[in-house]
Amino acid sequence: MTTYITTPIYYVNAMPHLGHAYSTIIADTYSRFRRLCGDDVRFQTGTDEHGEKIVQAAENEGVTPRAYVDRISDSFRHAWPGLAVEPDHFIRTTYPEHIKTVQDILQKVYDQGDIYFSEYSGHYCKGCERFLTEKELVDGKCPDHLTAPDEITEQNYFFRMSKYQDWLIEHINSHPEYITPERYRNEVLSFLSEPLEDLCISRPTSRLTWGIPLPFDEKFVTYVWFDALINYLTGIGYPDGPDFEKYWSVAEHVIAKDILKPHAIYWPTMIQAMGLPPYKRLHVHGYWNVDETKMSKSIGNVVRPGEMVDEYGVDTVRYFLLREMSFGLDSSFSSEAVVARRNSDLANDLGNLFSRALTMIGKYADGVVPEVDEATVTDDDRELVNAMEAMIGSYAKSMDSFEFHKALQTVWQVIGRLNRFIVTNAPWELANDPDKAGRLNTVLYFLAESLRILALVLRPIMPVAAGKMAAALGMDESLRNAVLEVDGSWGKMEPGTRVDKGPQLFPRLDTKKKQQPQGQQKKQNKNKKEQAAAQVDMEGMVTFDQFGKVELRVAEIVAAEKIKKADKLLKLTLKAPEERTVVAGIARHYSPEELVGMKVIIVANLKPAKLMGVTSQGMVLAAKEKDDDGNERLVLSTVADDIAPGSRVA
Ligand code: MSP
Repeated sequence: MTTYITTPIYYVNAMPHLGHAYSTIIADTYSRFRRLCGDDVRFQTGTDEHGEKIVQAAENEGVTPRAYVDRISDSFRHAWPGLAVEPDHFIRTTYPEHIKTVQDILQKVYDQGDIYFSEYSGHYCKGCERFLTEKELVDGKCPDHLTAPDEITEQNYFFRMSKYQDWLIEHINSHPEYITPERYRNEVLSFLSEPLEDLCISRPTSRLTWGIPLPFDEKFVTYVWFDALINYLTGIGYPDGPDFEKYWSVAEHVIAKDILKPHAIYWPTMIQAMGLPPYKRLHVHGYWNVDETKMSKSIGNVVRPGEMVDEYGVDTVRYFLLREMSFGLDSSFSSEAVVARRNSDLANDLGNLFSRALTMIGKYADGVVPEVDEATVTDDDRELVNAMEAMIGSYAKSMDSFEFHKALQTVWQVIGRLNRFIVTNAPWELANDPDKAGRLNTVLYFLAESLRILALVLRPIMPVAAGKMAAALGMDESLRNAVLEVDGSWGKMEPGTRVDKGPQLFPRLDTKKKQQPQGQQKKQNKNKKEQAAAQVDMEGMVTFDQFGKVELRVAEIVAAEKIKKADKLLKLTLKAPEERTVVAGIARHYSPEELVGMKVIIVANLKPAKLMGVTSQGMVLAAKEKDDDGNERLVLSTVADDIAPGSRVA
């Protein structure tokens, strides 16, 4: 199979930030995933360099547009390697081959009568670089830029977009995957339920010269969107490059919701007018806010990719962005949230599993993966294999539908299971009994093989860490060229492979130091004295940091049973989202049957403790009340709405 995935080409009027990094990491992850599936992949990103915004930004810096775009385009190009993003092609709209292609297309569409000259009066928003319709204005202003548009009357060229409206509606209706998630598809269809206006595609050179001249009228330059969208074709050699057809037939675009209209309406109609088949899928994601607020230079909360990587490391940044955002919805970035994910999911769950398993292979098998002793394989082991295989299936399905957070949840369920596998099988006890040597070998092989599969599926998300995992497992080279369908199946780890634990994958981050990106940290230092003074009066209070260390999660009770000889205790099996056992002192207040299906709140990162022989991995929260006679009533804290098990409570 073949894959062609693109990011938006970013305007060079601002330096790369978290939002740009997110779209680009998404496209990179998807391209790595498709490669893992054995596809021939082309991944493209780049910069959008014409138009008024750019001229304005260059003027502000007192340099020519050319010098300006070269400098900022370079900073985009150089931002990606630090995020382990590896595009196959970086396109710039100032490249001569792009300019020529845009002109050829304009000429073709003009010759066939789909571009005409006319006078137009309208509300022009400089920020959007387009005319806004009456309906789009809110209190006479552009809703995105909160500025009143200029009332402009001018002669211009127009693209007959309206001609393709019915075709577009029909195409979207008959291809449910064309625009996803569904909310954006609905938004586009709703917009298309009104008559579509034609698109103004030129700017007079009296107003703007920094653009691609119209081939049929040199007094005009091309409107920046008509120029920019065509990058998706130029980058793969349209019209007669050898790879064009191969990649165009499978084109997929990643964008955020801000540029839905150009991608879901202008672009498909332009493509149709050119006589090309439509792109395959448009993936639309939401917005990253920072601490619940819109990112903006004036607030000073713009998050820079380089700073994030310096602070947390590339794998943590990628993991956080993919795990935290439900693709399509908005999400909030905060340092506390990154540190919490790093410490719980990466350091505790994955990092510990990895180092414990490899330490044990080092200690009990001289660092060499042992052979399974078939006679000692249990039903539980076979279920583990089934769980690993099921994980691969649902991981692949979620990755393919851009539900990265779900893919990671699935992977973390098996990580939880593997951590419990270690506790249940206690290799350190098996090692003490020579009769159990066969069983010990089986357990160690199962761990090594599971780590191999984890390294495989985590590679698209955390390429650097997965590479280290693979190297530690003595299989860096083979994992690099792995194919999910073949190498994802159980049993590919060769007994006899030498493993070497290496350095810790994800050391815990100090919640105090690794707080916030630098700008915010400075402000904080300023207030240190005041804070210290205030703390004198705060005896008994916990700080935000301290509270942040407690990981509260929603958990679904999937099973409950009494514990022998313990009349207060129940053993609960919870999904949060991985399965775990928690012992709760609620037996006098709840029967096991009534608990099943309840969604409760748990402390998820409590150190495991043994109660009446059962290891409890967390604590369920409950409210306690005492009446006048000293009788205690206990009510579990639940969540009012239906929310996915594993959701964080903050
Ligand atoms: N140049 C146009 C795109 C032309 S594509 C043919 C443009 N450039 S942009 O620099 O403004 O980039 C917008 C894109 O950057 C968004 O669609 C999204 O991919 C990314 N993001 C910018 N800010 C973002 C957030 N705060 N959150 C998530 N992504 C955001 O529009």
